[in-house]
Amino acid sequence: MALWGGRFQSGSSDMFKQVNDSLPFDHVMAVEDIWGSIVWSRALKDAGVLTVDEQQQLENALSSLKAKAEAGELDFASSFEEDIHSFVEATLTAELGDIARKLHTGRSRNDQVATDFRLWCRSHLDSLRVDCLSVIQALLKAAKRHENAILPGYTHLQRAQPVYFAHWCLAYVEMLKRDVSRIEDLQKRLNQCPLGSGALAGTTFPVDRYKIAAELGFDSPCLNSLDAVSDRDFVLELLFNASTSMMHLSRMAEDLIFYNSGEAGFLHLGDSVTSGSSLMPQKKNPDALELMRGKCGRVFGNLQGLLVTMKGLPLAYNKDMQEDKEGAIDSVNQWHICLCIAVEVLNSLSLNEERCRIAAQQGYANATELADYLVAKGIPFRTAHDIAGQAVVLAISKGKALEHLSVEELQTVHADIQDDVYAVLELEAVLNKRNVLGGTNKELVTRAVYAELEKLDQLKA
Ligand code: ARG
Repeated sequence: MALWGGRFQSGSSDMFKQVNDSLPFDHVMAVEDIWGSIVWSRALKDAGVLTVDEQQQLENALSSLKAKAEAGELDFASSFEEDIHSFVEATLTAELGDIARKLHTGRSRNDQVATDFRLWCRSHLDSLRVDCLSVIQALLKAAKRHENAILPGYTHLQRAQPVYFAHWCLAYVEMLKRDVSRIEDLQKRLNQCPLGSGALAGTTFPVDRYKIAAELGFDSPCLNSLDAVSDRDFVLELLFNASTSMMHLSRMAEDLIFYNSGEAGFLHLGDSVTSGSSLMPQKKNPDALELMRGKCGRVFGNLQGLLVTMKGLPLAYNKDMQEDKEGAIDSVNQWHICLCIAVEVLNSLSLNEERCRIAAQQGYANATELADYLVAKGIPFRTAHDIAGQAVVLAISKGKALEHLSVEELQTVHADIQDDVYAVLELEAVLNKRNVLGGTNKELVTRAVYAELEKLDQLKA
């Protein structure tokens, strides 16, 4: 039963129903829609529209419908209703008759859908926040498992300077912490209640919008009815947050795919998160990581899609806005799956620490130390940089590492280079000298891992 039949003389075409109906996807908001209706029925009773008895009958029926929705027992697939709002009203009307036909008094699907979708986003963001915290925890656990492991650090994908593996983990912890704080920021802005805004201009019934907002767990009501029914900033922000977080996961995936490659050979991934080839028996492919990287495409696309949909829409509600849901539902699902699989990948990985160490020693990653050593001898950095560069050329020509050149050889590039240079060029020394806040010094890194573990406990509480 359409909610708007009176003005029409004939029904919708099948094709119109295909383009117009949103029940196939907006049924995911069933629980939120029913909860909103329970609170609306109370507001109507307070406003004198429903009697105490009528409201009680409605609330009882809605509560058992909500329990069914929560248990996944509602059959949406065989329903011909237009959307979740019509579905709930039709189900209720079949049970209660005319009393159910009073429920929509003073309400529009425009303020209803805006409310439902905020509630849906809010509860999913709560669990996505926990998913992000689980990735942080998995990164910190991996850091602890391999606390002495050293990786070559890269810029331009060229070996640059060595870093502790735990330092690499902490870099992604910072990114995920920002994802968590973006979710928390969004939750504050999102938590305003549109219900009571009517179709666009407000409602004529004297409902208490503060009470409605509070009962649905919102901080306050939306302040302008036109904005309340036409605002989808919260969906855009959710899509942006999903995109940014997926971009972080994708970069992590790319690092790990490279570390896992035959060429680097820095780490092994568990059988549970890799797959084989149908043709090449030797293959073990990092599919989970590739999909974390690959799924960014659709998640970024969903953000772009809704931005374009919203651009240029006149106030207030337009049906275009129904297009906000499928992309957001998809992005939330994909983001959730990728955060969960990231945890599994991180828990499964083990480093080949020896191979990492050898790689970290290669590629003249200690050339900056030689320059800094000369700076300590009073040589201006720019000159020292030049001399160290010449030392690298010399070492390359002899097929050796810098630290394998003799003092005599090193003195051919600068006479001030002495025996004490070897201690400076040694791998651990290169790392531990970076003992300024945020650097890869061992003690700082270990302390940061423990500090983050402690913060995590507070964030989870
Ligand atoms: N299914 C619609 C949506 O998701 C509900 C709102 C319908 N409003 C209307 N004026 N037709 O946007």
